Amino acid sequence: MAAQQTISVDLGDRSYPIVIGSGLLDGGLDLSDFVPGPSCLIVSNETVAPLYLHRILPNFDGKKITTLALPDGEAHKTVATMQKILDQLVASRANRDTTVVALGGGVVGDIAGFAAACYMRGVAFIQIPTTLLAQVDSSVGGKTGVNHPGGKNLIGAFHQPRAVMIDIDTLNTLPDRELKAGLAEVIKYGAICDIDFFAWLEKNMPALLAKEPAALVHAVRRSCELKAQVVAEDERESGRRAILNFGHTFGHAIEHCLGYGEWLHGEAVAAGMVMAAELSDLNESDVDRLRALIAAAGLPVLPPAIVADDWLRAMGMDKKVQQEQLRFVLLRAPGDSHITSSYDENRLRQIIGADA
Ligand code: NAD
Ligand code: GLY
Repeated sequence: MAAQQTISVDLGDRSYPIVIGSGLLDGGLDLSDFVPGPSCLIVSNETVAPLYLHRILPNFDGKKITTLALPDGEAHKTVATMQKILDQLVASRANRDTTVVALGGGVVGDIAGFAAACYMRGVAFIQIPTTLLAQVDSSVGGKTGVNHPGGKNLIGAFHQPRAVMIDIDTLNTLPDRELKAGLAEVIKYGAICDIDFFAWLEKNMPALLAKEPAALVHAVRRSCELKAQVVAEDERESGRRAILNFGHTFGHAIEHCLGYGEWLHGEAVAAGMVMAAELSDLNESDVDRLRALIAAAGLPVLPPAIVADDWLRAMGMDKKVQQEQLRFVLLRAPGDSHITSSYDENRLRQIIGADA
């Protein structure tokens, strides 16, 4: 019997469970109850499919399953790749009662979720995230979408999954660089809203880097609990949910300016969180504390070389911009964040090297 813990994302009649544990693959958790019709399309990619696709088939006992493996990588997070999913749904004459299942990291989850949101104006969707980043962040909360040459995640929809199944055993095959990228989003939760979790991460970073199961389950569970609370409060990001974007205004600009896939999303967010902390009205010792935790996770604390105009152009496409005004998620203190358009413009110019 698989060991498992369940968290609920409370959204009224669209509430759904996040089941976290070890041994959930190979039929350890029956997901067929979350498939409303007789069939589902499992979308994965060419890296993850050979590892896990055959292992999740028993989790959908009694369902007719078709599969699709997308090309791997952030550079393929495009409308053209999403079109492949839609083409397959049409080719298999899928109806409105079909279910799309995403098996993979955040890229597969975001693209497959967007296809599920669009096909016949919305079909059921299940997330089986296999990277740490996807397990603690992208599989929860219903943000789906693809990149546009003009900016990161510019095309998308809110579409909540019916269930999220997180088997931490999948992290055993995850490359270390990807594990570290996921730790950036874990650190984010501590920094924005849970100082006790931040302190726990300071103590347990070596255990997480060593993939100790108990530490991983705690980090995934606490991250999902915090994200579920924020999403339940503000599903469509009309206010508080924006705090989940701490570091992302800078991070998305890094990804865009370097070319998607050059720096991993989590790496860009890590350097972006340090930049956002530097822009915050914080004691230097608090900025150092965040910098030290990010460095302990093996993540970058400095951004790559980007010219100031490119920073400004890329950040101007951020989805938080309102009335042409940049808005940032800043820290009042470690564990306490807010979104604001009020920041020190001179300090921002220094941080992006405009005065160099
Ligand atoms: P990813 O999906 O590219 O996965 C990283 C790499 O790991 C890929 O090469 C993938 O094939 C491989 N992989 C996945 N699982 C594996 C496993 N178990 N073993 C071995 N290899 C494995 O990247 P990611 O970091 O998971 O996700 C990043 C994406 O998520 C970005 O596009 C970002 O914008 C998005 N994101 C979305 C949200 C959201 O709320 N929707 C939140 C955060 C990030
Ligand atoms: N990753 C940010 C959000 O889900 O809102």
